[in-house]
Amino acid sequence: MKIKYIIKKDIEQALINIGLKNYCEPLIIPSKKKEFGNYQVNNLIKMSTITKIQPYDLFEKIFFFIKTQNIYKKITFSYPGFINIFIDQNWLSNKLEELFFSSRLGINYVYPKKTIVVDYSSPNIAKEMHIGHLRSTIIGDVIVRTLEFLGHNVIRANHIGDWGTQFGMLIAYLKHKKLEKKLKKNIISLKEIETFYCKSKKKCDVDKTFENESRKYVVKLQNGDDNCFFIWKRLVSITMNYNYHIYKKLNVTLKKEHTMGESLYNTMLPSIVKDLKEKKIAIEKNGSTIVFLDEFKNRSGKHMGVIIQKQDKAFLYATTDIACLKYRYETLHADRIIYYTDSRQSQHLQQVWAISKKAKYIPHNLSLEHHTFGMMLSKNKRPFKTRDGNTIKLTVLLEEAIKRARDLIKKKKPNLSQKKLIKLSNIIGISAVKYADLSKNRNTNYIFDWDTMLTFEGNTSPYIQYAYTRIISILKKSTIKIHQISEKIVLTKDTEIRLAIKILEFEEIILILEKKGTPHIMCNYLYQLATYFSNFYENCSILFSKKIKTCKSRLKLAFLTAKTLKKGLNILGIKILKKM
Ligand code: ARG
Repeated sequence: MKIKYIIKKDIEQALINIGLKNYCEPLIIPSKKKEFGNYQVNNLIKMSTITKIQPYDLFEKIFFFIKTQNIYKKITFSYPGFINIFIDQNWLSNKLEELFFSSRLGINYVYPKKTIVVDYSSPNIAKEMHIGHLRSTIIGDVIVRTLEFLGHNVIRANHIGDWGTQFGMLIAYLKHKKLEKKLKKNIISLKEIETFYCKSKKKCDVDKTFENESRKYVVKLQNGDDNCFFIWKRLVSITMNYNYHIYKKLNVTLKKEHTMGESLYNTMLPSIVKDLKEKKIAIEKNGSTIVFLDEFKNRSGKHMGVIIQKQDKAFLYATTDIACLKYRYETLHADRIIYYTDSRQSQHLQQVWAISKKAKYIPHNLSLEHHTFGMMLSKNKRPFKTRDGNTIKLTVLLEEAIKRARDLIKKKKPNLSQKKLIKLSNIIGISAVKYADLSKNRNTNYIFDWDTMLTFEGNTSPYIQYAYTRIISILKKSTIKIHQISEKIVLTKDTEIRLAIKILEFEEIILILEKKGTPHIMCNYLYQLATYFSNFYENCSILFSKKIKTCKSRLKLAFLTAKTLKKGLNILGIKILKKM
């Protein structure tokens, strides 16, 4: 339900009727105090200045046109210039009734439906995922779930780093150390591969012959040599099988079929370079091929070049991304493409988009968005790293979360069976890490703090998961079964009305996520919803209400709260618990 939108449209229509079209967009916000109603129009003074009509007179004119709508119970003016809107309880109750029987909480599929490519997670091969990949993976997944819920055609694109010169080094190293057999038997772990990767890189720096050999293997791999191809394929599968375990653990929806790595665009690269040269977008300079763009200048005002092919004929990250963008538009028919990578890749993407537009690989109006995110910091506000200054592996972080959750649960429930303890600590631990991240505005850095994320107070996943289980237990205790209640909800107390409006706000939140890709909006919403439920429950008894009619109505309100919490957590990829 888009209550704010309805009010806004009503006021806009009133302004048209008065003859004040296009003057100023009404700004509707939830009221802070109950005497100011449920919503207020916040910019009446501004409208008044523009239209040169006194605020109260303008209010009266607007009031005349909207007073008869059945959504409003009362509309008042408050000094110096606010319109206070009280929503009618009956109207609210009817709207809640619609949600009651809807599996989609009354939210329609959007029209027109779009094809949206979401580029997220995108780890690199031969390396374990680190905490930087956590943000892209889980934020991207929330948006994918949101867009799918709204009925869009969503294409998950896991743009893994599975191509490049590093594979030459790795192949050379594996051959040197006679590790091919082990690889064939599939008994090499990702951890080992990562050490080989580091060692091969070091060896390349000091050993010229090894470096030359590595180069030869790159060429062989690019030319489709069977043996090199086999080794490469194995390296990719070992890394990705490991990552799929992590996705599963994280309750992230990425599967094998969503992998569209850099190697996919390999065959497109030579013709792209050729085409860009022919179109005079790229030029050759000292053996490399470079694109100069007017809009990108360095500090001294000189045009910055984007290299798309190096002297040794190797292609670059940017070349692949140009091909990838072309493919997403031409082959996947994307209407909108969203990239979830950290803010440091911003310029890279801007350049890729600009080149692709200039070359007419994509139209100018294709919606391209880089949804950036900041870094995870430790309590001392420095980048969150291991004691010896290395990046933290994602598995290490998740194991720690599960361990901390287990210690906490053990303290609270010492008699829990081992099986239940494991299940519960997995869900609570992983949810806490995910929620702590998702609840922060993705655009800024945030402080990663174990202590706050695992408490049952405040905007945390344990708090919201617990709120859900509490409602479920109330519903279970009741002798009245929810689906047998035929009476409508009756809203009398303020806390009931506030809760009802909050429940109906869910659609607005989903639509913000669709547009902006900001999961923290959903977290804040669920936190408020859970808090409003608490206030309602403290003020209004449910099972012990004096009248059966009231009990039934409140049970329905509780049920709808639980249903909304469940859907919201599902959108966030956070598992619910029936008991805690
Ligand atoms: N693999 C890259 C990294 O780990 C992220 C790729 C993002 N997607 C893209 N199309 N460039 O930083």
